[in-house]
Amino acid sequence: MKLWGGRFTKEENHAVNDFNSSIPFDQRMYRQDIRGSIAHITMLSAQGILSEDDRDQIISGLEGILADLESGALAIDPESEDIHSFVEAVLTARVGEAGKRLHTGRSRNDQVALDMKLYIRDEIDELDALLHHLLSTILGTMEEHLHTYMPGFTHLQKAQPITVAHHFGAYFEMFSRDRSRLFDIRRRLNLCPLGSGALAGTTYPLDRALTASLLGFDGPTLNSLDSVADRDYLIELLSALSTMMMHLSRFSEEIIIWNSNEYGFIELDDAYSTGSSIMPQKKNPDIAELVRGKTGRVYGALMSLLTTMKGLPLAYNKDMQEDKEMTYDAIDTVKACISLFDGMLSTITFRKEVMERSAMNGFTNATDAADYLVGKGVPFRDAHRIVGELVLYGLANDKALLDFSLDEYRAISPVFDEDIYEAISLKTCVEKRMTIGAPGPDAMSEVIKTYHTMLAD
Ligand code: ARG
Repeated sequence: MKLWGGRFTKEENHAVNDFNSSIPFDQRMYRQDIRGSIAHITMLSAQGILSEDDRDQIISGLEGILADLESGALAIDPESEDIHSFVEAVLTARVGEAGKRLHTGRSRNDQVALDMKLYIRDEIDELDALLHHLLSTILGTMEEHLHTYMPGFTHLQKAQPITVAHHFGAYFEMFSRDRSRLFDIRRRLNLCPLGSGALAGTTYPLDRALTASLLGFDGPTLNSLDSVADRDYLIELLSALSTMMMHLSRFSEEIIIWNSNEYGFIELDDAYSTGSSIMPQKKNPDIAELVRGKTGRVYGALMSLLTTMKGLPLAYNKDMQEDKEMTYDAIDTVKACISLFDGMLSTITFRKEVMERSAMNGFTNATDAADYLVGKGVPFRDAHRIVGELVLYGLANDKALLDFSLDEYRAISPVFDEDIYEAISLKTCVEKRMTIGAPGPDAMSEVIKTYHTMLAD
């Protein structure tokens, strides 16, 4: 039975029903739908629009439905048009006459707008908890590897030595920004659309501020047309999720590279790797590859909703039902990716010697050699050229800067002295970088303290 059957005379067409129906996917909002209805009913009775007796019957009916859905005693009817129709139909079947008063002063348009906001708020809280856990994992690695040297890269060419703590710190920053984006979105969406009716409010004396506060919103929305037509917060969320996936994907790409035979910087735990059906020697970084791969479908959800919304006249249009499936999928995907990635990260073994050896070759201390000359009064431009010539000589003779004899140095510039070796040692290169945000362990330790306070908040 349809909620709107009164105006219709023809038999229902099954293909049309199936096409129109959203119950296969919006059933996941049953908790939010029931929560919203209870607030609505509480407000209707406080305003004298509904008797206390009806209120009590409806609320206990709704609570019973919630309990039965949670326990599995009640199954969702796949023939219902949507979750809103389903809950109302069960309520009326259970409590009779009073159930038919549930929808007083409400439309499915403001109802679905409310349900979706409540749902997204809950999901944002879960995403935030997952990000918080990931950040703790990253911070743990940073503390453990304050002195684990590795090469820093630009253009995927060795550039200057850094530490694992410093590299992971970059991702701490990224995922912290992701958290703050979620926080902004949650704050901006936190106005209650319920009471906007189909598009033009209602003639009942609703107390929209009361419903809003019962549901934990900061207040009611201020334009009823916009309330039922706004999906900005979903687009913002999908954009934030896309950015998160972009970060996870870059990190995954690095894990894959570091785990390759050529690099050998890390070893992934067996639990987070898979083998090959034909090549017995293989141990593949599938989890990282899947996270990288799933980034595409989250971007897809963002483009999909932007496109769905772009031509819609005010206010509600059925097109907007398409806001749900891909948003749900994007949220599910991101949650799974963060949690699997977190597990993979926390079980990585770092091959410190390999990383350190790699940090030493490839002339990563060339800048420091130039800085050494500057310290002896040589202008930086000249120092740069001198060290460039040393590198050329090193390449031709298959030697690193630290392997040169003092005579070899002096053949190119007489300014060099015994103290050059100390000045360009790996330890000096890293530890001397002490400005805020640099890899020097003293500087990193300060940053780590700040990160701890960030996570404690
Ligand atoms: N299932 C619908 C949706 O998700 C609920 C709103 C229905 N409103 C309407 N006027 N048909 O958008």
